[in-house]
Amino acid sequence: MDILVCVGSSCHLKGSRQVISAFTQLIKEHQLEDRLTLKGSFCMGKCSCKGISVKVEDDFYSLIPEDVEKFFAETVMGRL
Ligand code: FES
Repeated sequence: MDILVCVGSSCHLKGSRQVISAFTQLIKEHQLEDRLTLKGSFCMGKCSCKGISVKVEDDFYSLIPEDVEKFFAETVMGRL
């Protein structure tokens, strides 16, 4: 399953790098490297959202770095 994190300039300023490193860490901790692929994406056209744009499969989310752990546990793990 792919997790796409926007690395466009607006999301970059909001902390997409932190979101990516939090996901990387969580994927490693849960040993899900074979099942989850983290990818960077160009602007998703949702710069006006409060958080960083993230897509899991075709679903769009807006996350702040502090949300990643909870999001991973509930939304990502829930889909595996
Ligand atoms: S830069 Fe991320 S949605 Fe536009």
